[in-house]
Amino acid sequence: MAVNSIGVIGAGQMGNGIAHVMALAGYDVVLNDINEDALKKAMELIQGNMDRQVSREKISAADRDQAMARIVATQDLPQVAQTDLVIEAATEDESIKQKIFDGLLPHLGAETILTSNTSSISITRLASRTDRPEKFMGFHFMNPVPVMQLVELIRGIATDKDTYETCLGVVQKLGKTAASAEDFPAFIVNRILMPMINEAVYTLYEGVGNVNSIDQSMKLGANHPMGPLELADFIGLDTCLAIMNVLHDGLADTKYRPCPLLTKYVEAGWLGRKTQRGFYDYR
Ligand code: CAA
Repeated sequence: MAVNSIGVIGAGQMGNGIAHVMALAGYDVVLNDINEDALKKAMELIQGNMDRQVSREKISAADRDQAMARIVATQDLPQVAQTDLVIEAATEDESIKQKIFDGLLPHLGAETILTSNTSSISITRLASRTDRPEKFMGFHFMNPVPVMQLVELIRGIATDKDTYETCLGVVQKLGKTAASAEDFPAFIVNRILMPMINEAVYTLYEGVGNVNSIDQSMKLGANHPMGPLELADFIGLDTCLAIMNVLHDGLADTKYRPCPLLTKYVEAGWLGRKTQRGFYDYR
């Protein structure tokens, strides 16, 4: 199936990154959010990130201007439904995602492929509640989207070959690399990454190290570009906790038990960079 236009639902850090790379690759993008301020902020961030790419000579000023002109920001969900491929990139909360799909489905074109950027939730279950499980799959980007090379593609039990190949073609047009993952909790990247982050929080909780020594150890000792606590702040502690809960519930193994300190930070509203406070203080 030919894809010319992409709908992105959710203008947060993943959604604005997805809109950014899709527009640069030549797709017409409809970026949707219920919150007008979030849309405004997303367009400013995309502009700023593209400006940085121009200043580092990764793209030309003309590329940037054409890409920005391809993005339409709207609060109108039915407008998104008119695109060829929709990527839902809302909060990692199944009930929120479900509400979005319920609102979208009555307007969705018969041929439109529906995908979710979920980092952990069952694609088969999300698909089963739509009218098109064969045209539904996981399309999971990494943060920051313009920089990270990988996209995980996750087929639900009913996803058909054409849907998978169409999504694979889009990943290739972005110049990124697809990893095909089976539909089990948190897929590949987060199945491995989140227990490491959770273990770093336990290391802090148990007093084995402090925030700086834990992050420095993994940066200098394991050559990670960011320490695990810095990375948790970057991803969002609420997202990290949500993914650990999916692993814990879905695999029923105590090794995935979220660290109580992670839960406490989320309860405090200390969600990392996006709230200016997490394991680090950004205020
Ligand atoms: N948009 C466009 N370009 C960006 C960008 C953005 N949002 N953020 C960074 N960049 C670019 C910079 O312009 C710079 O480009 P050049 O190489 O051309 O100079 C490059 O990325 C490196 O950026 P910086 O020099 O500012 O900073 P850095 O060297 O410290 O790298 C980083 C920043 C790329 C974020 C790096 O620290 C890193 O790779 N961190 C780990 C990120 C990671 O693990 N992501 C996966 C998270 S897990 C996930 O996303 C899955 C999930 O479901 C939770």
